[in-house]
Amino acid sequence: MSEPGSGCKIAGVGVNVPSRVLTNFDLEKMVDTSDEWIVTRTGIRERRIADADETTHGLAIPAAQEALRSAGIEARDLDLIICATATQQRYFPSTACMIGHGLGAGDAPGFDISAACSGFIYGSSIIQQYFRGGMAKNALLVASEIYSRIVNWQDRATCVLFGDAAAAVVFSASDSSEGLIATRIRSNGEYGSFLTGGAITRSGDPVAGALPTMGDGYFIEMKGNQTFKIAVKSMCDVATRILEENGMTVADVDMVIPHQANIRIISAVGKSLGLPEDKVYSNIHRYGNTSAATIPLALYEAVQEGRVKKGDVVLMVAFGGGLTWGASLMRW
Ligand SMILES: CC(C)(COP(=O)(O)OP(=O)(O)OC[C@H]1O[C@@H](n2cnc3c(N)ncnc32)[C@H](O)[C@@H]1OP(=O)(O)O)[C@@H](O)C(=O)NCCC(=O)NCCS
Repeated sequence: MSEPGSGCKIAGVGVNVPSRVLTNFDLEKMVDTSDEWIVTRTGIRERRIADADETTHGLAIPAAQEALRSAGIEARDLDLIICATATQQRYFPSTACMIGHGLGAGDAPGFDISAACSGFIYGSSIIQQYFRGGMAKNALLVASEIYSRIVNWQDRATCVLFGDAAAAVVFSASDSSEGLIATRIRSNGEYGSFLTGGAITRSGDPVAGALPTMGDGYFIEMKGNQTFKIAVKSMCDVATRILEENGMTVADVDMVIPHQANIRIISAVGKSLGLPEDKVYSNIHRYGNTSAATIPLALYEAVQEGRVKKGDVVLMVAFGGGLTWGASLMRW
């Protein structure tokens, strides 16, 4: 590590999605639903599902390798590895440690963060502080999710919403105007019950013989309507605040990359902020909600499609279980 700058820019992005596609028509054969219901209520047409032997770190590694190649650096140049995931294989070793090992990153520090669908924004906020503190020159943020493992495939209200994907971003030190301008993260556990899932342990006395088993609380449970309303409000609030705090208005923003949970949430946020439709990116129809991975996956595709260009101001905004929410503002 040498002469880190105080700012950081995105130097490379990579993605890896499972090849298996599950369409709404496939779901029609599994639960009492229809393509028409899913498309109208969510915008989702298909999602990717990981193979049975896939792991969260295994899905992440090719995405991270692509991001490193695109940044033109080696894994051993990394000073920090963060994995945002709510579907880690184990509590320990952390997914980040397994990714670091798979990449050949040597002794780079690695840890996971738990902020559900806001994980990418939370990770970018932590990374910004590492650069500001002079503790990193290159950092890897990977979001990797296999929600198909914690979805109840008998529950039509939730199983149609989620998908699996990994996406990675390499941040590198920069003193130019490119890169992260600001991040703002928030949480409130008061609304935690709106969206829960993935409990690997549960209460009980193992000494007395009540060994924890998979069961209560394992699958995703969601209060859809309440979640919908608070998602729109919190994403609009945090987007407005981060722009105000940085002396900007929506007119200064070239592209908003929102968390891809539901096209109606995305449209409502865009409308409430007064943004034209072409300034709000969405690829939800092809991937569904891949939790922490939606934003870097959307950013990757927006850049590939030429919708985000050098010098553009990009606002990323997310919302997720916790409840957590936040925004990152950057110049591409
Ligand atoms: C889940 C969501 C799409 C449901 O849409 P909605 O318009 O609120 O629908 P409701 O929950 O009111 O359900 C309406 C009806 O559709 C039914 N329904 C639910 N899922 C269905 C499905 N997949 N197919 C067909 N019908 C379904 C319900 O049972 C209900 O039937 P009823 O009126 O007979 O009781 C919507 O609430 C949502 O997107 N919420 C936010 C979810 C989210 O983003 N979570 C992640 C945040 S990170």
